[in-house]
Amino acid sequence: MAAGIDDMAIYIPRLFVDSADFAVARGVDPAKLKQGLGISKMAIVDTNQDPACLAANACLKLMQKNNVSPSDVGRLYVATESALDESKALNSYVIGMLEQVYGPDSFEHCGGIECKFACVSGSYALYDNSNWIRAGEAEGKSAIVVVSDIAKYDMGSTGEYTQGAGAVAMLLNDKPRLLQFDAKVTSTSIKNEYDFYRPFGKETPIVHGQYSNLLYLIQVKKAFEAYKKKALDTGIIKINEGETILDHIDYLCMHLPYSNMGKKALSYLLRREWRSLPRWKRTIEQTGMEEPVPKDPRGTIESILADEEYMTKDHEFTKLFTKTKEYRQFYEDKLASSLIASTMIGNLYTASLYLGFRSCLEFEFQKGVDLAGKRIGFGSYGSGSSAMVFSGTVQPDYKEIVSKMNLEMEIGERKKLSLEEYEEIHENKRSPDQSLLDAKKEFVLVSIEDTPESRGERKYVFCD
Ligand code: COA
Repeated sequence: MAAGIDDMAIYIPRLFVDSADFAVARGVDPAKLKQGLGISKMAIVDTNQDPACLAANACLKLMQKNNVSPSDVGRLYVATESALDESKALNSYVIGMLEQVYGPDSFEHCGGIECKFACVSGSYALYDNSNWIRAGEAEGKSAIVVVSDIAKYDMGSTGEYTQGAGAVAMLLNDKPRLLQFDAKVTSTSIKNEYDFYRPFGKETPIVHGQYSNLLYLIQVKKAFEAYKKKALDTGIIKINEGETILDHIDYLCMHLPYSNMGKKALSYLLRREWRSLPRWKRTIEQTGMEEPVPKDPRGTIESILADEEYMTKDHEFTKLFTKTKEYRQFYEDKLASSLIASTMIGNLYTASLYLGFRSCLEFEFQKGVDLAGKRIGFGSYGSGSSAMVFSGTVQPDYKEIVSKMNLEMEIGERKKLSLEEYEEIHENKRSPDQSLLDAKKEFVLVSIEDTPESRGERKYVFCD
């Protein structure tokens, strides 16, 4: 049985910080954020928003635009790393909000859990729910997977300029109009790591930034190796002499903690795929330098990062490689469109990959490309750490959905925050009733109980 994404909806908070203002305030060259990391704006949640509100708002939009009623939904999963409670799952908050609109107990038949594994959990949630559909357990119902996160880092840290927030809700069924997942090729890698983690009670993560960058690349590559084998074994992709499997994947969507991470991931994969192919000779000639090799090629991530001479040379080589005609072509054709939304919105942790997918569809369609039958490859990464690589093909009815996509219109009118306003929000100095924007047709947080017997209970309302 087939399974895939029938439609999707996004909810992005309308407050944002401009990366140029931010850079000046932190004494960083604005070009580092804009060109170096690919960040132009970072979406910031208002004081009356939390990850549950973002998820409920995306979910409501998805249901309304598809005329889906609660009885059509068999499962509602929320994937996040911005959990509100150690025990109560985020999907229960979302159902509570949706029942304010659809009526008490309207979702009582609906199963689901909150999924956690840093930024990769949304992909596991999609995979598990697709398998629920493939197994014939859905009985004609759809599943909704919502990925929702607030990427918040310590003030003054190098992670602070890679913040953002938002949610993507996806409707899954057995006759998807948008994307059908390729069966029996989904591949994973996993390793116990401390590249990025958030101990209980801490609002912001502990991050080893450069370590997490490299680990992301290595883990995605490992999952990609397993994917390659499965894609060839199942016969969904056939390659000729001198080709790589990537030649037969039309678009790549990568996890995007910041937009330029997608470029890093692409160059890492291509260098390793092209090395053994005839095209490598002419590509490397354009770089004018030999590809460097670490002192200990089988060393640990720490030993590679500590090998300064190699790291400097490898950085130089990567820069030259990304200027070659072959890389540029591949980048423009297969990756560039998926990075646009990230530049405008920032980091959405779990939701970043799916915002990138949406960005790919919208901006490729705007170029006039017929997307029907195109294969999209996904590279998902979650710190801690696990990667998942999978693929799917765009379905013949995709235009019905993609022709109506308009990122700017869907976000709505945005308000630029002053640095003072941003810092007040960041340091939690404002209460939910001191929001900067008036809510319109959305759920907002009203209060959080602090009495001993009900501590942590959250109340939400739908504002018309
Ligand atoms: N003009 C243009 N580009 C500039 C620049 C300038 N003045 N100064 C620096 N840059 C470029 C750098 O060359 C680099 O790009 P490159 O790697 O393609 O060469 C980029 O800007 C970032 O600079 P870098 O020094 O690596 O940044 P940083 O040490 O401040 O940290 C992160 C970057 C991503 C490690 C940090 O923001 C972080 O920890 N983020 C959170 C964790 C994360 O996102 N991990 C990713 C994997 S999940």
